Amino acid sequence: MMSELSIYIHWPYCLSKCPYCDFNSHVPDKKINQEEFLELIKKEIDYHGKYIDNKKISSIFFGGGTPSLMDPNIIERILAHLSSRCNIENNTEITMEANPTSVELQKFRDYSNTGINRISIGVQSLDNDDLKNLGRTHTAELAIKAIGIAQKYFESVSIDLIYARPGQNEKSWKLELERALSLQTQHLSLYQLTIEPNTLYEKLYKSGKIKLPNETLSNELYQITEEICHKFSLKKYEISNFSKRGFECKHNLNYWNCGEWIGIGPGAHSRVKEKNKRRSLINEYDPYNWGQKIRNSGHSMIENSVLTDEQNQDEYIVMSMRTRDGLNVNKYEKLGGKLNIDNINLLISNGYLRKGKTEENIKITRKGSLVCDSIISSLAD
Ligand SMILES: C[S@@+](CC[C@H](N)C(=O)[O-])C[C@H]1O[C@@H](n2cnc3c(N)ncnc32)[C@H](O)[C@@H]1O
Ligand code: SF4
Repeated sequence: MMSELSIYIHWPYCLSKCPYCDFNSHVPDKKINQEEFLELIKKEIDYHGKYIDNKKISSIFFGGGTPSLMDPNIIERILAHLSSRCNIENNTEITMEANPTSVELQKFRDYSNTGINRISIGVQSLDNDDLKNLGRTHTAELAIKAIGIAQKYFESVSIDLIYARPGQNEKSWKLELERALSLQTQHLSLYQLTIEPNTLYEKLYKSGKIKLPNETLSNELYQITEEICHKFSLKKYEISNFSKRGFECKHNLNYWNCGEWIGIGPGAHSRVKEKNKRRSLINEYDPYNWGQKIRNSGHSMIENSVLTDEQNQDEYIVMSMRTRDGLNVNKYEKLGGKLNIDNINLLISNGYLRKGKTEENIKITRKGSLVCDSIISSLAD
């Protein structure tokens, strides 16, 4: 039987840098030569041939940066190159992240003709003042228009919103989220604003120029998020991800289930199995150096290491506890891990954790979600 694999392709460029964002995304000082980018991506795919060849591909994800700045023709040729090595089938989920600017909307139809069947639109907010504060170059109206166009061409449409923004309160978030849900997309990623290191937002936050909602309000906003999504029949299947049944993002589920994937492009990383060991591969981060490394030696890999049992266990706890199904005790023990049963029982009796139907799974409760990180760190011995 063929084993399944996901493929991530990173496009590291944007039209402008949003002040909150610490992704590997850059505003280039000259026009990007997309033909060259394509050749580099193809070389990197070939370099990973031994992991990719003849595999059944469960998902492909074009992320960024702003991959919707790529010409549809380039996407098509990346997919054709992959198809020549591995099996992309009708049910392979192929996602592209897109920003809702007018240039990109015009290309949605062409993207859908390349085989992309899922689009994830970075709406971020439906409040025009807040969009400006977030450094976004689109309006709420344009984002809504983008969603409408996307719904014509893609089987599955997802939107990203950022909440717990400066100045936001329960009432405004409730109205904004209800408006977003009324657009009837199959999937929403709802992220609480995080102040990331080395961003402009970090500077503004440290100098007191922006203030975030306090912990009580943030928790309140999270609860509102869960309640309203539930009211609109969207199921939470990961701490920040909600979907209609059957529209969970396969690609992200594979990450959270600690599956196998190959990352192509600057800064992308991979998890692959070789001789029963899970390996971590990491590509050069800087887009220029990434290109140079591939030109000089056919690949950009800067790290290739076997994950220790402890690293596999930690990764499984962190990933699984964020998901709807939670942590499977058998799977964790097969990885050689030992759970702290006393802590777990205490967390269950205090309402932070609960057992799944089969008792084999431990899940985080709504109360637990609010302190997810500290719970995760207390589960293992
Ligand atoms: C790779 S990014 C962006 C995709 C696309 N370029 C865009 O901006 O719409 C994926 C998502 O992460 C979220 N994100 C990025 N930085 C964040 C931050 N500091 N706090 C919360 N969410 C963030 C945004 O919702 C964003 O859409
Ligand atoms: S949020 Fe998106 S558009 Fe903004 S800088 Fe980050 S990757 Fe680029």
